Amino acid sequence: MIVQYGNRLKLISISGASNVTGYKSDVGRIAAMAHRAGVPILVDGAQLVSNSSLEVKPDGHPEHIDCLVFSVHKMYTPFGTGVLIGPKKTFLRGAP
Ligand SMILES: Cc1ncc(COP(=O)(O)O)c(C=O)c1O
Repeated sequence: MIVQYGNRLKLISISGASNVTGYKSDVGRIAAMAHRAGVPILVDGAQLVSNSSLEVKPDGHPEHIDCLVFSVHKMYTPFGTGVLIGPKKTFLRGAP
């Protein structure tokens, strides 16, 4: 699908893991596929970051995660804070 529609995609967003099924996405492999098609990837780490390590990897690495999001209460911290990690240039474009 990424190969077929890559030229029409702006962003590929995937869930890192499911708390319903326990399935963990092969984030590195999907990131590499996305980047081969020239598309950035966003990983929803809500169910992943509390029980797995996840390496964002450097810019230019085939398995680099362009954007990572998660809510910190999934890591047993107080409610109310979310995390959005992304390219600096994205955050320079306007008010958060
Ligand atoms: C994969 C995933 N993303 C996002 C969320 C939303 O998280 P919350 O609304 O608790 O911040 C959940 C909630 O369980 C989730 O499982």
